[in-house]
Amino acid sequence: MPHRITIIQGHPDSDGEHLCHALANAYRSGAEASDFEVRVINVANLSFPLISSAEDFKNGPRPACIREAQSVIRTSDHLLLVYPLWLGTMPALLKGFLEQVFRYDFAFEPDASGRFEKKLTGRSARVMVTMGMPALGYRYYFGAHSLKSLERNVLKFSGISPVRESLFGAVDSVSHKTRQKWLQRATRLGAAGR
Ligand SMILES: Cc1cc2nc3c(=O)[nH]c(=O)nc-3n(C[C@H](O)[C@H](O)[C@H](O)COP(=O)(O)O)c2cc1C
Repeated sequence: MPHRITIIQGHPDSDGEHLCHALANAYRSGAEASDFEVRVINVANLSFPLISSAEDFKNGPRPACIREAQSVIRTSDHLLLVYPLWLGTMPALLKGFLEQVFRYDFAFEPDASGRFEKKLTGRSARVMVTMGMPALGYRYYFGAHSLKSLERNVLKFSGISPVRESLFGAVDSVSHKTRQKWLQRATRLGAAGR
C-alpha cells in the first residue's frame, strides 16, 4: 500500500472548475480518508521554460519549482497524473513540465554501454485522461498512442510500475449521473491508493 501519493494536475487552466480538477479532488478525498499523505503539483501554477536542446535537457539549469517537483515525486510511492486530451495528446504545458522533470539524473540515465538505469523504481502510477470523443474511440480507433507513449516511454522507462489508466470520454455530453459515478470511482481509487 502506498503511503505518499502525489497528484500531478496537468490541466493548463488553473481556475479549478474542470472535470480534471473534480476527478483529482475526488481521488484526493478518498486517499485522505484512507490516511494517505497527498501532495498536489498543479502544473498550471508553475513557471518554467521549455527545454530547448539535448544539452539543456542534460545539464541546463532547473528552476526551483522543477527541483521541488522532482523532490516531491522522488519521495512519493504513487503518482496520479490527470490531464485533458488536447489534439490527441497531453496539453503542451504538461509535456513541457515532464521534459523539465524527467531528466537523465532524475528518471533514467544511460551508462557507458548505453543501457538506461531506471531511477524511479518502487513507485506506481495512474493516468486519468478526459476527452471529448468516446473513450472507446480513443482506445481502439486511435490506439491510445499518446497514452501508451507516456506510460512506456516516460513512466515505465523510469521504472514506475505498475502504471494504470482511467479514460473518461464524451465528457461534454455525459449525464450528471454518469459524472457522479466517475467521481465516485475516483474516490474509490484514491481510497485504495491505486
Ligand atoms: C485545445 C483543445 C483540444 C482538444 N482536443 C481534443 C482531441 O484531440 N480529442 C478529444 O477527444 N477531445 C479534445 N478536446 C476536448 C477536451 O479533451 C475536453 O474538453 C476535456 O477533456 C474536458 O475536460 P476538462 O473539463 O477537465 O477540461 C480538446 C479541447 C481543447 C480545449
